[in-house]
Amino acid sequence: MNYPKFPTECHSMLCKYLRSEVFDALNTVQTKHGFTLEQAINSGVQNPDSSIGVYAGDKESYFTFAALFDPIIEDYHGFKTTDKHTSDLDTAHLHASNPDPEGKYILSTRIRVGRNVDNMPLGPAISKEARKQVEENIVEGLKTLDGDLAGEYYPLSGMSKEVQERLIQDHFLFKEGDRFLEAAGLNRDWPDGRGIYHNADKTFLVWVNEEDQLRIISMQKGGDIREVFTRLVRAIEGIGTKVPFSYSEHLGYITSCPTNLGTAMRASVHIALPNLAKDMAKFQAITDKYHLQIRGIHGEHSESEGGVYDISNRRRLGITEVQAVQDMHDGVVALIAAEKALEEN
Ligand code: ADP
Ligand code: ARG
Repeated sequence: MNYPKFPTECHSMLCKYLRSEVFDALNTVQTKHGFTLEQAINSGVQNPDSSIGVYAGDKESYFTFAALFDPIIEDYHGFKTTDKHTSDLDTAHLHASNPDPEGKYILSTRIRVGRNVDNMPLGPAISKEARKQVEENIVEGLKTLDGDLAGEYYPLSGMSKEVQERLIQDHFLFKEGDRFLEAAGLNRDWPDGRGIYHNADKTFLVWVNEEDQLRIISMQKGGDIREVFTRLVRAIEGIGTKVPFSYSEHLGYITSCPTNLGTAMRASVHIALPNLAKDMAKFQAITDKYHLQIRGIHGEHSESEGGVYDISNRRRLGITEVQAVQDMHDGVVALIAAEKALEEN
């Protein structure tokens, strides 16, 4: 492969960190699953408007292509190669009462973690057969869950377009045809091997074989962050006894995108902040202070509607799960206080 041509206005981390000496050193190496630099960077090459632009094909990618991945990981998470990641899923350590008990601002709360199966290639490098095997193993594990975590698995192949579209619109299901995932090789053989598991209330859901092999999700209306976190922890622990998760001492839970490493957790609220929305500088000063990310109402790469935003923790690696949720909680408390102050003006 020749050094890729990036437009001058490219601001992705790939453009920033793929210096020619890094390119030359990595261009001819590959991982034990045969994953190459060309595959790792294709999403960012095809999509110069990427914010990151790279994906891993397996756990080994993070070490084989460390000269590219390490600076990206440090830039995104503030996590250095000498830092250590630790996990803490103890709900007793979380200090989070409902930031909006009257239900005036927070519409819903959702916390998800990404997980992949140990000793298997990640989505960008997996074969159709191995993906199917992963799906079968996960579904077998999910079938053993009981109580409020008991549910049904719905494969994407065979699902009607109407049902699929309704699930997407209602924020329960991943969207189809994402161009970043497409170029990363994550949409190969679509919809084969993909699906969604959920309980009757749709407060506990698992996405199978989307960007990661599992996305374990707990969500509900309102702002009871503790209840959502507690349900998620039970689900992670329940599934973890059946499905061995890919984990590294250094990088935590392994995910296909470096932004999700570590806790692989995104804790978010859908929150109405119509006054703050008129002063984005003030809004962003608060989200920066609490390490939060602002997304639109239909998730990543979508827009806000009617002053409602998706606010979540930005950092995932080098902090514990409890801290990730705490970041979101503390930031949301500050955002609501700022919104209230603007109402009174
Ligand atoms: P991910 O959360 O897996 O990183 P997205 O940003 O694409 O991926 O979000 C996935 C879906 O979850 C989208 O439909 C999004 O609107 C929905 N979602 C995220 N946070 C919340 C929330 N707090 N309440 C309801 N739906 C949410
Ligand atoms: N690859 C996309 C980009 O660089 C998304 C990065 C983070 N989001 C994700 N879903 N992994 O813009």
